Amino acid sequence: MIKCAILGYGFIGAVHAATLKKVQGAELVAVIENDRSKWSGVTRGNIDVDGMGSLDVPFYESIERMQNELEVDCISICLPTYLHRSFAEQAFAAGLHVVCEKPMALTVNDCDAMIAAARRSGKQLFIAQCIRFWPEYAELKKIHDAGLLGAPLSLRLHRLSGMPSWGGENSWFFQQDKSGGCLFDLHVHDIDYANYLLGKPRALFARGIKLANNTNAAVVSQYHYENGMLCTLEGSWLYFSGFKMSYAAVYEKGQVEYDSTQSPALKLWKNGASAPEILSVANTDGYVEQYNYFIDCLENGQAPKAVLPESTRLSIELALAESKSISEGRIIEL
Ligand SMILES: NC(=O)c1ccc[n+]([C@@H]2O[C@H](COP(=O)([O-])OP(=O)(O)OC[C@H]3O[C@@H](n4cnc5c(N)ncnc54)[C@H](O)[C@@H]3O)[C@@H](O)[C@H]2O)c1
Repeated sequence: MIKCAILGYGFIGAVHAATLKKVQGAELVAVIENDRSKWSGVTRGNIDVDGMGSLDVPFYESIERMQNELEVDCISICLPTYLHRSFAEQAFAAGLHVVCEKPMALTVNDCDAMIAAARRSGKQLFIAQCIRFWPEYAELKKIHDAGLLGAPLSLRLHRLSGMPSWGGENSWFFQQDKSGGCLFDLHVHDIDYANYLLGKPRALFARGIKLANNTNAAVVSQYHYENGMLCTLEGSWLYFSGFKMSYAAVYEKGQVEYDSTQSPALKLWKNGASAPEILSVANTDGYVEQYNYFIDCLENGQAPKAVLPESTRLSIELALAESKSISEGRIIEL
């Protein structure tokens, strides 16, 4: 049994707590949260996960205090993004495996420091890029890798939401240097998925919209690949109509479409067919599946090859290139 702690009991910390209850081989033994008002509370954000509720585990103010009292194997960092690096370094120095929420960090330098700290400690670093494990996205990855529909022609990824308002209007989310804005906070899921599916592009171009305080609130980007395929990504905090994620992947012999707001949500169109095939996927989510995968890696002493930190570091490199493209108004060669 892998004994787990959660660091940061805000919105996603509460999702991790509810998720860990469903993961075989993992046991949540503690939460670390420096805001004592959250020690007995129930936290909510823009996604509801079954089982989110108050917790029956001890709360601590620091990793050190927890370790004075408990044996823990793995810590899940669910802190505001600008704190990921320093707390990952602390956790590795304390001899813990680390799950760290996306985005890995806001600079490549911080990603490198996290990778170096993991190597020094001999412990595993797993960045929670849950979309790699989201059933409909995992299905496309399977179809793509098996070449079932021939060569890819285009990929469109959308991730649209209202503002992350659960921390209030002055929260760290609305400070570019703390969250990276929508580009690093929301859109990074699709940056990472494009990286996972297609690898590093040759170049990219992006345009964005900023809030009055210069925080990015929406982005549309185009990735350019050697094979000439088209790839566009849109991420936005400016949609008032509720959260939606979707993709359309077009191949020589057909296309796969997913829209989280539709039912059925996942369709495969083969060229020439008069109607789509409805694809069914397991009734689970990427939060559970990423833990199932990582806990299995820990139990078997293996590195998490499906999400190596070097790969999520590349996603941060791409996010930074998109920021540069927005501010300089030009294509960035990679
Ligand atoms: N994978 C996803 O779907 C998803 C969704 C939302 C957020 N996230 C990511 O998760 C991270 C956290 O986001 P959130 O929405 O939960 O933020 P949040 O503001 O709701 O929660 C952060 C929590 O960390 C606590 N905290 C801050 N400093 C601390 C410290 N030094 N010690 C202990 N606790 C401390 C805060 O009190 C708060 O409870 C971000 O990196 C965000 O991008 C991922």
